[in-house]
Amino acid sequence: MSRMETILSLKNLQKTFTARRKGKTYKIHAVNDISLDVRRGETLGIVGETGCGKTTVGRTIIRLTTADSGVAELNGNDIFTSDRQQMRKLRLKVRMVFQDPYASLNPRRTIGDSVGETGDIHGVFDSRRDREERIARTLEQVGLDASFANRFPHQLSGGQRQRVGIARALLPTPDLIIADEPVSALDVSIQAQVLNLLADLKDEMGLTMVFISHDLGVVAQISDRVAVMYMGNMVELADGPGLFANPQHPYTQLLIASVPLINPNKRVSGGIEKGEPPSRFADVSGCAFHDRCPLATDLCRTTRPELRKNGIGRKVACHHA
Ligand SMILES: Nc1ncnc2c1ncn2[C@@H]1O[C@H](COP(=O)(O)OP(=O)(O)OP(=O)(O)O)[C@@H](O)[C@H]1O
Ligand SMILES: [Mg+2]
Repeated sequence: MSRMETILSLKNLQKTFTARRKGKTYKIHAVNDISLDVRRGETLGIVGETGCGKTTVGRTIIRLTTADSGVAELNGNDIFTSDRQQMRKLRLKVRMVFQDPYASLNPRRTIGDSVGETGDIHGVFDSRRDREERIARTLEQVGLDASFANRFPHQLSGGQRQRVGIARALLPTPDLIIADEPVSALDVSIQAQVLNLLADLKDEMGLTMVFISHDLGVVAQISDRVAVMYMGNMVELADGPGLFANPQHPYTQLLIASVPLINPNKRVSGGIEKGEPPSRFADVSGCAFHDRCPLATDLCRTTRPELRKNGIGRKVACHHA
């Protein structure tokens, strides 16, 4: 396995929504010029406060949302220019796990039929028996007894349903899983079990995953690398341990300081005001974080900082880090 083999490559991804509010039309820069590579076998975390654009990044990759501009490549193949046939294949190779497994499971279908659905659509099963065996094996992979195939969603607990959500994404074997807040709806103790399952699957199957969450504590547990987003921008990209031990962007520092799991003494260093992100309806010039940032200067108010390597080799979008 080549450690640096790129599966997914995003270049200068942009998505703007228009929203109307009080009779006026506003532009929301949901995703603002994001470039990112995902390497085979890694879990890449995307973290940031609600509304920062995490889900929009995930949805543009599989074209549930159409990007305004930019390039997305899966194994070197351009996603955004793919035709219907190529998109069919892509949907087999890139699979989503959603926050609410209940909403994504058909209540009238057995668990087995839900897990086999994508395989059925794409005609991947050789026989009835092959189908049954692969569904059973996939259920066991996610820690469920094969007999779950005959049950219905309402007979399962939240954690079991999310295991089914993961099983659905695993059959047939995907190149990439995009998990959008996969544990956010679960109790903390169940969260840990599902995170452990994902970590085991990564080790056993070499699974590649984009793991989206607003919860830095959760992202810290599972990610090899982490992209931190703020108001549509990627402000820092680092390997997990490096990010938490030595956050470079003032926003990352603020996020980490506010997570007791990572920072037990919970002190906010450098006098950063917690505050709130500015309204997504306001046009922010310069650095999107400038009005919450203790380091902000005139430059930050006028000029958007690019994501680039700083003095210690960290990718960070800040004029002063
Ligand atoms: N279909 C849409 N129409 C208009 N605005 C949208 C649409 N989808 C997302 N947005 C806006 O784009 C911004 C980014 O939304 P997105 O859902 O990607 O954020 P998020 O980081 O996933 O948030 P959360 O943590 O709450 O899931 C938000 O301001 C959101 O209101
Ligand atoms: Mg979201």
